[in-house]
Amino acid sequence: MNERSEPRICLAPLRGLTGAIFRNTYAEFFDGIDWAVTPFLTTIAGTRLKASQLKEVLPENNRLMPIVPQILSKTADRFITLSKALFDLGHGTVNWNLGCPFAKVAKKMRGSGLLPHPDLIDAFLEAVFKKIPNQLSIKTRLGRRQPDEFFKLIPVFNRYPIKEIIIHPRTGEQMYTGRVDLDVFEQCLASLRADVIYNGDVNEVRDFKALQARFPALSTWMIGRGVLANPYLPVMIKGRGAPGGIDCLDRFRRFHDTLFERYAAVRHGPVHLADSMKGYWGYFAGAFCDGAHLLKQIRKVHGAAQYQEVVQRFFDGADPECCFTF
Ligand SMILES: Cc1cc2nc3c(=O)[nH]c(=O)nc-3n(C[C@H](O)[C@H](O)[C@H](O)COP(=O)(O)O)c2cc1C
Repeated sequence: MNERSEPRICLAPLRGLTGAIFRNTYAEFFDGIDWAVTPFLTTIAGTRLKASQLKEVLPENNRLMPIVPQILSKTADRFITLSKALFDLGHGTVNWNLGCPFAKVAKKMRGSGLLPHPDLIDAFLEAVFKKIPNQLSIKTRLGRRQPDEFFKLIPVFNRYPIKEIIIHPRTGEQMYTGRVDLDVFEQCLASLRADVIYNGDVNEVRDFKALQARFPALSTWMIGRGVLANPYLPVMIKGRGAPGGIDCLDRFRRFHDTLFERYAAVRHGPVHLADSMKGYWGYFAGAFCDGAHLLKQIRKVHGAAQYQEVVQRFFDGADPECCFTF
């Protein structure tokens, strides 16, 4: 029998959300993610890693989920220096961010701002491949303004031994909304030499199944917002049982409480702590029938004590049959 092997799932980098604290806590309570790309590290502050960034990628802080550190840079020399430092820490692969959509970043020709410039990308890769000891993975979009910008990048990418290309098939200008362009993605997939990983809008098992049916050759899928909205999604995709009922709610609550405690240990002040947690609820709330109402309440709280009051009251009264019913 020709059984398809289990899909591999990679956690997408979501700056401010999927840092080491989240990744470790996730891996303690849930299953199904094979590895993660970290939110981007920058090289602008100099050529050495800032202490806060170093903490995020230290092997001892990432024992539960393998990571590939991501770098946002347009300067080959700085990228090389940082890659070497990461190699010395044990990171055999680094990821180059070619997708960041924010105008502030793109205007400085970083992230998706580089996509309309195949010549600059070529020069960067030429310089970097000569000097880095790591393997190089790339995370990209289809273009800055137009999805067909990617076609000019294909011959450039094909000249280098890139380990894998993770494609989020939107343009930078689309940010995180609007249609993903699966037709252009399909053409890219057919023409790229490197392994390709699909990323974008896998929020439910049926999204995954539809994509897998259309792109059966893909073995790895990167998921971001879908994992935050339903942390059981990776195991559900892998067909290892759908969640439901009281255990499911209880596990999520313990996960939440651990995440809160760990942020409490590192955030300076109750307002920062509440703000860190509020960021997650924009996604978490979708798993609960009355999530929209809860989200409104959470967004209004000031400080950690009030945050805990609202959230714990919600958990105490939550109906296990009315959450994670995907
Ligand atoms: C809040 C937020 C932060 C993000 N931070 C990063 C980042 O640091 N590096 C990166 O390559 N992509 C970043 N992304 C993009 C995601 O990795 C991913 O490509 C995008 O969310 C689409 O995948 P999804 O639909 O599975 O979430 C970010 C997205 C969001 C919403």
